[in-house]
Amino acid sequence: MGITTVSTIAELKALSAQLLAAAPGPAGHGGGTLGLVPTMGALHRGHAELARAAVAENAVVVASVFVNPLQFGDPVDLERYPRTTEADLAVLDAAGVDIMFAPPVEEMYPGGEPAVRVTAGRLGELYEGASRPGHFDGALTVVAKLLHAGRPDTGLAPADPAGRQSYRAYFGQKDAQQLALVRRMVADLNFPVDIVPVPIVRDSDGLALSSRNRFLSDGERDAALVLSRALRLLRRRADAHEPLDIPSAEELVHMTPGVELDYLEVVDPGTLAARAENCQDTPFTGQALALIAARVGPVRLIDNVTLG
Ligand code: PAF
Repeated sequence: MGITTVSTIAELKALSAQLLAAAPGPAGHGGGTLGLVPTMGALHRGHAELARAAVAENAVVVASVFVNPLQFGDPVDLERYPRTTEADLAVLDAAGVDIMFAPPVEEMYPGGEPAVRVTAGRLGELYEGASRPGHFDGALTVVAKLLHAGRPDTGLAPADPAGRQSYRAYFGQKDAQQLALVRRMVADLNFPVDIVPVPIVRDSDGLALSSRNRFLSDGERDAALVLSRALRLLRRRADAHEPLDIPSAEELVHMTPGVELDYLEVVDPGTLAARAENCQDTPFTGQALALIAARVGPVRLIDNVTLG
């Protein structure tokens, strides 16, 4: 059976329960499991990878496509965010997704902007949060709502003996700060769902895929490659247990015309707290995450790489 589109939470819950009831196989083989892939549409191969990861290990897979006004500070940014519903449907269908949940704004926020929201706390004010105040509060609020909306009322298997939940949500590692905050929210607020991270997908020249790449001119796209180059430089040094020498990686970015570096930080992969390797003369040991953000022409891009 191909993909079905629904636009209300009631339809979503009814259809996912029905599909779960019809899905074969014991819980240990994917039966009674549901994967949720939250997206804002404008889907690319990175999203297809999220969807495929969910399809590979769940009986039923739902992908949401909702451009969430709450996480945009700038109304112009919200307005020009690409909306490509027909193409999105084709991507999800090809990946084997069962249901596309594409609610209108009134379905997600029937009373208008919610008065009560999830707050991301201190971590929500760092890195991406520093230049996008309120962004992570808006993103976490909609993720909380989507996690509730996507959880079927019947048909889920109990957690498996290893403690793995039968309800799972899939997030890309490219948005490392969002992923860390979603994990924190789920742990701190006891959401009964497993958060599954999915690796970054890159073009063959190293550029991390992003819905915003379509706004880059050819020249800007070439310039944007410096983000992944700077990260690769840090990874080479980490692999060789050399000092990371972050200023020289920053210099690489500063020297690229048309690219304005916002931050290049080496952080703890779990908490995203800054790590001592930011003082650059100690040899690298252990594990860390290098985060980078830069403006390239009209577009703000982020990328990251695991070190160690
Ligand atoms: O990463 C995104 O596309 C969005 O922030 C998300 C998680 C779908 C919430 O709107």
